[in-house]
Amino acid sequence: MITDILAIGTLLIVTCLLWVWGKPSRYKYPPGPPGWPLVGNLLKIPSIQPWHLLTEWRHIYGSIFRLHGLGISIVVLGDMTVIKELLDARGSTYSHRPVFTVAGDLLDLDKSFALQPYDDDWKIRRRLARVALSPGAIKQYQPLQEDIAALLNMALLDTPESFRNHIRLAAGRLILTITYGIPISSLDDEFIALSEEAMSVVSRVTVPGTYLADVFPSLKGLHPWLFRNQVEHDRSTIRDFINRPFHHVQKQMAEGIAPSSLAQHLLEDPSDHGFSSKQDHEDAVRWICGALYGAGAETTFSAVLTVILALALHPEKQDRGHREIDSIIGAGRLPTLDDKGSLPYVEALIKESLRWHPAVPLSLARRTAKDDSYLGHFIPEGAIVIPNIWAIASDCNDQYSPSQFIPERFLDENAPIDPATYSFGFGRRICPGKHLAENSVFLFVASILAAFEISADTDLEGNPISLVLNSALV
Ligand code: HEM
Repeated sequence: MITDILAIGTLLIVTCLLWVWGKPSRYKYPPGPPGWPLVGNLLKIPSIQPWHLLTEWRHIYGSIFRLHGLGISIVVLGDMTVIKELLDARGSTYSHRPVFTVAGDLLDLDKSFALQPYDDDWKIRRRLARVALSPGAIKQYQPLQEDIAALLNMALLDTPESFRNHIRLAAGRLILTITYGIPISSLDDEFIALSEEAMSVVSRVTVPGTYLADVFPSLKGLHPWLFRNQVEHDRSTIRDFINRPFHHVQKQMAEGIAPSSLAQHLLEDPSDHGFSSKQDHEDAVRWICGALYGAGAETTFSAVLTVILALALHPEKQDRGHREIDSIIGAGRLPTLDDKGSLPYVEALIKESLRWHPAVPLSLARRTAKDDSYLGHFIPEGAIVIPNIWAIASDCNDQYSPSQFIPERFLDENAPIDPATYSFGFGRRICPGKHLAENSVFLFVASILAAFEISADTDLEGNPISLVLNSALV
């Protein structure tokens, strides 16, 4: 009897070991740097600007490599072919987002379709967002964008030293008006301040591995207890950010004075869109608008600010931009979106800025829905997948150094791949605000160039201060 039990036990153990060992030997994991037991190489990943090291590792381990630790696999993709073959062509496997236990469960951020898993609910929300963001829909915002660009120039004329605030306000205004119909003339800066605060919470809580509970979800219960004040503060910041502008629209609708906006349109839409109750429908609209505002304002701000920095650092490129605007537009008016296409150097300046310092250098991480194999590499279910946009951006034509700001490379016959094809992500989760953002960045940059000369501020001795871009989302 005992020998039978031992025999069955041994058989079970051997079967389990063969199963565990069998998987990776059939499909070997992608290569990657060596690591320590248990923590693997997670501790080697710097928390500041990790894309530099990930790009160095691409040169050593190739365009697909793996980092691991604490039971997690992180697969880093470093060229367009690999990204297209996985994120585009195998979209059903590669379109989930990582699970952020703290951001999702404790702060409710998993209701934002930017962080939701790739499921039917995400599909509905994404479709509803298209009402405001499809290439057809964004045409109606052209006059609004031009008004905001003119207001931006007036504010810059008044207080040029506050240029960061002015650009941030311009980017926020556009999305506030589109999503909630809050008119730009009476814009309450309160909503912009609210979004800044909310974005700083979001960027802190969505870095994979920031919280132990993200690695070990069973520790979730401990988190509010250990960091009670922090959790309460973060939760109320996110709630205010999602609820306050939404309540503003509801109040105006009740009074019959709500201007046209995405929120108003979706709330008045008689179709239930598959939501089971009025409350669910309302909640979805609240979070769709919040997601657009959250994802759209800071990214646009960051992209425009990068161009400003590049122009301040490269006066000769700025001069060429000025000359182009003077000769094509003249001095009597500001550029409009109809001028897009007739200012090739200004467009090259923008492309080069998106390439030189991409606004979102590691895009937004994905998670695999099931085990996969690619070129003989085993990629397990639940792996975090990072498209390294920084690495792609630094692969440009040999003639010009990748680290230098040279807009002329995009006017060459052998121009590198257009940053529009990678800066906004990929496949099914590609940025839904891409077309709107491209128009805004063009208009804000062209309008600033038409009216201003940009240079670094000086110190007390009159020397120009040195300018550095500290992070990606500036
Ligand atoms: C220059 C400006 C912008 C840049 C560089 C940018 C970049 C990105 C990137 C890299 C992603 C991740 C896509 C992926 O996972 O493959 C993304 C997602 C997203 N973006 Fe943008 N974006 C910009 C502007 C906007 C604007 C103006 C809006 C809305 C009005 C917006 C809304 C979103 C949303 C909602 C997502 C999540 C999509 C999803 O998960 O389904 N973005 N963006």
